Parts: sequence; structure tokens; C-alpha cells
Amino acid sequence: MQRVVRKAVFPAAGLGTRFLPATKAQPKEMLPLVDKPIIQYGVEEALASGVENIIIVTGRGKTAIEDHFDVSFELEHQLESQGKTAELEMVRRLSELIHVSYIRQKEALGLGHAVLVTKELVADEPFAVVLADDVIWSHRPCLRQLMDVYEQTGHSVLAVMEVPGENISSYGAIAGEPVPFNGSTDVLYRVDDMVEKPPPDKAPSNLAIIGRYILEPEIFSCLASTQPGSLGEIQLTDGIRRLMEQRPVYAYRFEGVRYDAGDKLGFLKATVELALRREDLGPAFRNYLKSLQL
Ligand code: UTP
Repeated sequence: MQRVVRKAVFPAAGLGTRFLPATKAQPKEMLPLVDKPIIQYGVEEALASGVENIIIVTGRGKTAIEDHFDVSFELEHQLESQGKTAELEMVRRLSELIHVSYIRQKEALGLGHAVLVTKELVADEPFAVVLADDVIWSHRPCLRQLMDVYEQTGHSVLAVMEVPGENISSYGAIAGEPVPFNGSTDVLYRVDDMVEKPPPDKAPSNLAIIGRYILEPEIFSCLASTQPGSLGEIQLTDGIRRLMEQRPVYAYRFEGVRYDAGDKLGFLKATVELALRREDLGPAFRNYLKSLQL
């Protein structure tokens, strides 16, 4: 099996109920963080990691995502005729840089199901899954960090982060054994089990699974044989648990800061911190925040 990850799946067919009413008629993935839609951060991370093909799983009401990554002749023409070359470059770069395929998930039957519908497009090779809501700021792209682990181990890898004990009940937690990796003994774990949203006193660890995965193609048969849960949804974690019966699965404590931009408070934190890190906006925005004297 080749150890190169060339494709990244972006499930974006969820209903975004946590962000209503903003998401009633527009996809959550298109909400802007500073000046870029949420999904563009994930796509840029994939590109910076060396992934060539982006597969976006869409659903009803998500055409704005397709338009965003497509050529916009009218806009380009107008920018060109107004001599706005920097803006023109930015808009062109978006449609030129990436090869995107779209596939529809006709009903929102869960994250596992969204990944399963990409089976034909991914075919028989390892691939990444990026949940665009999880926006990650890091020196080295998070996906690239996971790809390094995949290239060394040849097995599926989930990104995890340490969370304070009481917060673990909002995530999936892993139970795992540390495995030495590049001289460290507390970054890579071989996963023994995963527990969805455990009460803090029942959590096997405080290592929370976040929205970046490298998966081996065997995940598709595992998902196909996974029964939907009580809400009729096929969960990705249930599929991964099946995969673990056949093959090792690793968890990697990535370096970086993750924001849950699909949640209102997380979105606000991401907006403030990403704006503060921007060279063009950061200094003025910092002064403004200081002037609030909270
Ligand atoms: P979330 O759990 O964030 O669900 O899905 P959601 O519907 O997007 O948002 P809320 O919780 O109602 O506010 C995690 C990821 O899985 C995708 C979502 O688009 C998101 O990227 N997803 C979820 C699908 O593509 N299809 C589904 O059926 C469910």
C-alpha cells in the first residue's frame, strides 16, 4: 500500500443547527472568520500539507461552497477593469490552486455516512478527513503532522488534544498506550478504545478526538457494515472502532491551537484570535480591544 495521502474529504452536509439562524439559508462552512469562509482555512491547510485533491461532501443549500471555489468571471472581469490586481490574484488563486470534486449526501445521515458516500471518489487509497468547523492554527499544518505519522506507521491516525478534565464530556476520548515517536513518548498513542462524550469520572483519558483524521481505505467496508445509532445516523467513531478490530489505529497529539468554529463561542474566540494574529489587522484590533477596558 502506498503511503502518500493525496485526497482529503471535507464533510460539509450537516445542518449546522448550533448556528441558527445564520445557517438557515447559508452553509455554516461559508460563515467568514475575519475575511475567509471557515472551509477555506481547512482547504488551505490541506494544500499546505501537500494534498492535491479535495472532495467536498455537500447537501441541500450548499451551492455557495461550490461557487466559492469556482471561477467567477464577472467578479474577475470587474476587478481587472478596476485595476484591483491584488484582489484579482486572491480570487484567481482560489479557483486555480485546487482540484475539487463534489458529492452530495442526500440526507444528513451522520458523519460516518458522509465519509461513506465518498468511497468511489477516494477509491483504494489512504485519505484525510477534515472537519472544517475545527479551525487549527499551527506552525506546521495539522494535517501535515498527521501525514508524517501515517508515512512512518502506515496506519490510520486521529488528531487528539488534551482538554481539561471537566471538558472531556463534550468530545470523544481515547484509551491508548503511548508509543515512542521521534524521540517523544507523549505524542503518539496506539488506540485501544474510544468513548463518545464520557462523564469526566468515566473518561479513559483527557485526550479528545478533534476533526482531523488519516484513514486507511478499509474504513469504507467498516462504515458500510456499521448500524445507524438511535438518531438514524452512522457515526464515524463506530466505523473506526470496527477498523480497530482489523488494523492498528493511532492517535497523535498535534501541535497547534484548535477552535470550534461551528459553535457560537468558539467562533467568536477564533475570530478574535485569528484577527489578532493578522499583520494587517492585528495591531489596530489589539488597541481597540484594550480600549474596551473590560
Ligand atoms: P456536526 O456534529 O458539527 O453537525 O458535524 P452539524 O450538522 O454540521 O452542526 P450542528 O451540530 O447541527 O450545529 C460534524 C461534521 O460532519 C458533517 C458536518 O457538515 C460537519 O462538518 N456532517 C454531519 C455531514 O457531512 N453529514 C451529516 O450527516 C452529519
